[in-house]
Amino acid sequence: MDRGGTVLKLIFHYAKRYWWQIILMGIFTAISASINLELPQYTSKIINEGVALKNMSAIYEHGFTMLGIALLGGIFMVLSMALASRIAASMARDLRRDTFELIEQFSMNEFSKFSVASLITRTTNDAQQFQQTFNMTLRMGIYAPFVGIGAVINVFRISADMSWIVLACIMAILTIVAIVTIFAVPKFKIIQKNVDRLNMQTRQTITGLRVIRAFDNESVEEGKFAEVNRDISKVNLFIDRTMSLISPVMTMVSGFSMIAIVWLGAYLADKGSAGITNPTELMAYVGSQIGNIFALIQYVGQTTFAFMMLSMIFVFMPRMIVSLGRIKEVLDTDLSINDNDDADLVAVPTENSIEFKNVSFKYQDSEDSILSDINFKINSGETIAVIGGTGSGKSTIAKLIPRFYDVSEGQILIGGVDIRNIKQADLHNLIGYASQKSMLLSGTIRSNIAYGSNSGISDEQVVAALKIAQAWDFVNKLPKGISDHVAQGGRNFSGGQKQRLSIARAIAKNAPIMIFDDSFSALDFKTDAKLRAQLAKKTIGTTKFIVAQRVSSITHADNIIVLDGGRIAGIGKHEQLLKTNKIYQEIAKSQLSEDEIASSGAKAKMTPRTATSKPKKTGTKPKKGAK
Ligand SMILES: Nc1ncnc2c1ncn2[C@@H]1O[C@H](COP(=O)(O)OP(=O)(O)OP(=O)(O)O)[C@@H](O)[C@H]1O
Ligand SMILES: [Mg+2]
Repeated sequence: MDRGGTVLKLIFHYAKRYWWQIILMGIFTAISASINLELPQYTSKIINEGVALKNMSAIYEHGFTMLGIALLGGIFMVLSMALASRIAASMARDLRRDTFELIEQFSMNEFSKFSVASLITRTTNDAQQFQQTFNMTLRMGIYAPFVGIGAVINVFRISADMSWIVLACIMAILTIVAIVTIFAVPKFKIIQKNVDRLNMQTRQTITGLRVIRAFDNESVEEGKFAEVNRDISKVNLFIDRTMSLISPVMTMVSGFSMIAIVWLGAYLADKGSAGITNPTELMAYVGSQIGNIFALIQYVGQTTFAFMMLSMIFVFMPRMIVSLGRIKEVLDTDLSINDNDDADLVAVPTENSIEFKNVSFKYQDSEDSILSDINFKINSGETIAVIGGTGSGKSTIAKLIPRFYDVSEGQILIGGVDIRNIKQADLHNLIGYASQKSMLLSGTIRSNIAYGSNSGISDEQVVAALKIAQAWDFVNKLPKGISDHVAQGGRNFSGGQKQRLSIARAIAKNAPIMIFDDSFSALDFKTDAKLRAQLAKKTIGTTKFIVAQRVSSITHADNIIVLDGGRIAGIGKHEQLLKTNKIYQEIAKSQLSEDEIASSGAKAKMTPRTATSKPKKTGTKPKKGAK
C-alpha cells in the first residue's frame, strides 16, 4: 500500500481493483441519465401533437414509447445502483480487512499511540461512513452533472427566454449549499472524535462495572458518560438542523421556479398568439406552448434534483474524507517491531538457549529505564526463574523474549541468534507463553487449548496438557468436558481455573521454549507442587522461563534471578542465593519456615521463627487469585 500521499490516493488505491465494475456502473448511470433527459420531450410531444391537435394515435404512439424507455431507464438505474453499492461495500470490506490485519501486527507501542476504542471506531464506524458516502458519491457524481448540464441545455433549446429562471434556481441552491458547508462541515471531525470518546467511556464503564458497583461510583460514571453523550448529541443536532434547511429551501426554490415558468409561459404565449386569427392555428400554437411549459417544469425539477444531489455530495464528502483520513492514519503507521528484511541476517536458531546481553529497556511513555544491564543465560532445556518485588520488571523481561517490545539497548539471543533477526512468526512458534493476566478466547476449552498449535492436536493431547496443568480435575467435571463453552475473556471461569487453562494452552503448543509469567500464583501450594513436578517430567528438554512470586515454586530451578528495581541483584541456585543474597534471604524468610529453609541446605543464619509450614503474610507475599 502506498504510504503517505493523500486521501484521494487511498481511494484510488482501493478503487483500482474494481475498475471494470466502476466503468460499467458509469455507463449504466449515463444511460439512465440520458433516458431521464429524454422523457420531458415525450410529455411535450404528447401535448403538442396529441392533445392540442386532438390526435389520439399520436398520444398512443408517444405515450407507449415514453413508457418503454422509462422502463428501460428504470432498469439501468437499478443496475447502476446495485453496482455502486457493491463497489462501495467491497472497498469498505477491503479497508476494514487491511486495517484489521495491520492492527494485528501492532506492538504494544502502537496500541498506546491509538487507544483501543479509537481503533475500533476506525475499523467499524469510519469504514461505514466511507461506504455510505462513497456509494452515493460514485453514482451521483456521474448522474447529477450529466442530468444537471443536460437539463440546462434542453431548457435553453426550448426557450432561451426562460433560461434565466433555471439559472436563478441554480444560484439559490448553490447559496444554500455554501451556507451549510461553511457551518456544518467543520463539525464532522468533531463528531468522529466524540464517537471515539463515547466508545472509550462506554467500554471503560462496562468492563469495570463490578469495581464501579463495589465502590458505589455509578453516579460518577453516569456523569462522565452523560457529558460525552451530551457533546455528541449537541454536535449531531447542530448538523441535522443545518442539513434540514436544505430540503424545504430546495422545495421552495423549485416551487417558485415552476410558478415563474407558468407565469412567464402564459405571458409569452399570450404575446405570441396576438397575431393568429385562424382558430386551428391558434389551438396548435397554444398547445405547443403548453407542451413546452410542461417540459420546462420537468427540466427545472431535474436540475433542482441534480444540484441538490451534488450539494449533498459536497456536504458529505468532507465527512468521508475525515473518516478516511482516520483510517489512513492507522494504515500509515510504521510498525515499531518488524521482521528483518535483510535476508542474510535472517536465521532460525538450532538450539533453545536464551541469553540477555547488556539489556536495558524503557517503555515508550516511561521516563526512566525499567530494566538496566540485564545479563544472563539459560542453556537449552534448563529452567530459569525470576523473583522480585512488585514492579521490579519481571513481566517486562518475559515480554521482551517474544518481542512484544524491543530492547532499548543490548541484545536478546535465542540459540545464539539475535531475536530481531528471527522472523516473528518463527520466533512465536518457538515460544509457549502464559501471560500474567490469563486471557481466554470465546469458544470451547478444546479450541482454547489447541489455539497455539498450528498443526492441530488430538483430544488426547488436549487432555494430557490439561492434566499437566492440573486443570483436568475441574474440566472433567464439566457437563461437556473439553467441549464446554468458554465465554469471551474466559469470564465463566474462576481466576485460578483461567490460569490453569492458559498454562495448559502454553503446554499444548509443545514449543521448545516456555514462558510462565506468574502463572502459578493462584494455585494452592499442593497443586503448585504437583504442577511443577508434572511439568518437569513431561517437558524435559524444554527451556523454561518462570516468573514467580513464591520461593517454594522455584527452589528446583537451575538458576534463579533476583530482580530488584529493574536490575539483577543476584543469580544462582536456591541454596546459593540463600547463603549469599540478602534480598533473596528476605523473600525466603518471609515465605518459608526455618525447617524449609534448613532443608534447602542453607547454612546461612536466619532469624529464628516458629517452625510452621505456613507462609508468612509479609513481604512479597503470594498473590491470591489471578490478576
Ligand atoms: N505498558 C507499560 N507502559 C509503561 N510502563 C509500564 C508498562 N508496563 C509496566 N510498566 C512499568 O514497568 C515496571 C515493571 O513492570 P512489570 O510489569 O515488569 O513488573 P512485575 O515485576 O512483573 O510486577 P508484578 O509482580 O506486579 O507483576 C512498573 O514500574 C510498571 O509501572
Ligand atoms: Mg508481572
